[in-house]
Amino acid sequence: MLFFSLSLSKANMQSLAFLSLLLCTAFHVAFSFTDGLVANGNFELGPKPWDLNGTVVKGGRKALPEWEISGFVEYIKSGQKQGDMLLVVPEGAYAVRLGNEASIKQRIEVVKGMYYSITFVAARTCAQEERLNVSVSPDSGVLPMQTLYSSNGWDAYAWAFQAQYSVVDMVIHNPGAEEDPACGPLIDSVALKALYPPRLTNKNVIKNGDFEEGPYVFPNTSSGVLIPPNIEDDHSPLPGWMVESLKAVKYIDSAHFSVPQGGRAVELVAGKESVIAQVVRTIPGKTYVLSFAVGDANNACEGSMIVEAFAGKDTVKVPYESKGKGGFKRGVLRFVAVGTRTRIMFLSTFYTMRSDDFSSLCGPVVDDVKLLSLRKP
Ligand SMILES: *[C@@H]1O[C@H](CO)[C@@H](O)[C@H](O)[C@H]1NC(C)=O
Ligand SMILES: *[C@@H]1O[C@H](CO)[C@@H](O)[C@H](O)[C@H]1NC(C)=O
Ligand SMILES: *[C@@H]1O[C@H](CO)[C@@H](O)[C@H](O)[C@H]1NC(C)=O
Repeated sequence: MLFFSLSLSKANMQSLAFLSLLLCTAFHVAFSFTDGLVANGNFELGPKPWDLNGTVVKGGRKALPEWEISGFVEYIKSGQKQGDMLLVVPEGAYAVRLGNEASIKQRIEVVKGMYYSITFVAARTCAQEERLNVSVSPDSGVLPMQTLYSSNGWDAYAWAFQAQYSVVDMVIHNPGAEEDPACGPLIDSVALKALYPPRLTNKNVIKNGDFEEGPYVFPNTSSGVLIPPNIEDDHSPLPGWMVESLKAVKYIDSAHFSVPQGGRAVELVAGKESVIAQVVRTIPGKTYVLSFAVGDANNACEGSMIVEAFAGKDTVKVPYESKGKGGFKRGVLRFVAVGTRTRIMFLSTFYTMRSDDFSSLCGPVVDDVKLLSLRKP
């Protein structure tokens, strides 16, 4: 009897396994990738030795596994020297460099109509004005790389698109025209993540106020992800939010930083040049309370900080004394809506540098943004 029930449960387990296999297959068809690196997204698979001349990839469009390349593409090994500069690759041992007009392209399967965010890690090298044009037809965005945010020179950037087809070409192109054709950005890791546009709740008028929905964050690098200014971006990699400024804001995670609430938050890294905003629906004459957390990311970003919050023309300045070791307080702004739409906005009054390297931009962290209407004005 015992044997019988055992074998029965074994049979059950087998059918369960079969069912879950079926489910997995169905899931696989619907979402043909899991969030993370794209195929050979860290470039650890390199061209065949005979497809390389020194660092230059010579073997044609298909020489770099999983990618299609064009133009002057170099395959760079960590530790390689360029002039007096030592090239160090943050993840794994290899990266690619895109010279003038060079590009790398990969065909990816997506779900038509869905939003996706591409995160890639890049470093500028010798060019004056390095930029990368990231595109998934018909969307494209030119991301500036002049400003260095991390002291090691490598930064992760996010860019988002809405899939118009179920198979799309993701292209990263260096539109540069430098005197030295080899001057151009290095790229080390490319990842993709599906974005789920957050829904409004009847409690909070702000969408994605906790910033939990956002771009892919590399588990192995601790520098956060830059969300570039929205002028170069049709769809935000930070759903619900716009970056309305000259410079980027940084998306940080609790695995590498101190985050006031949940797993994600935003660090305002470039003073008044780094702004996040959201336009919300409001009822004129009604009183609202905007509340939010202001803190520091435990990244040696020390000093007196001020976060300025705006709701239409109303504003509040929330001072925060940072010891650079994490922590937060709450700020509140009570206002009466004057229109049917109100712009909610956050910026940092000051510029701050990390006290451990004196070269990385940093700033106050904003998280857990709530906007509630008061029953009685
Ligand atoms: C390899 O590069 C060198 C220097 O750029 C060049 O002189 C040489 O002809 C190249 N070799 C091949 C096989 O293309
Ligand atoms: C970026 O690339 C896309 C796709 O190739 C192109 O349509 C767009 O014009 C480019 N943008 C710039 C500013 O070069
Ligand atoms: C992170 O590092 C581990 C171990 O080095 C590696 O296996 C994994 O592929 C890396 N993940 C990413 C996304 O780079």
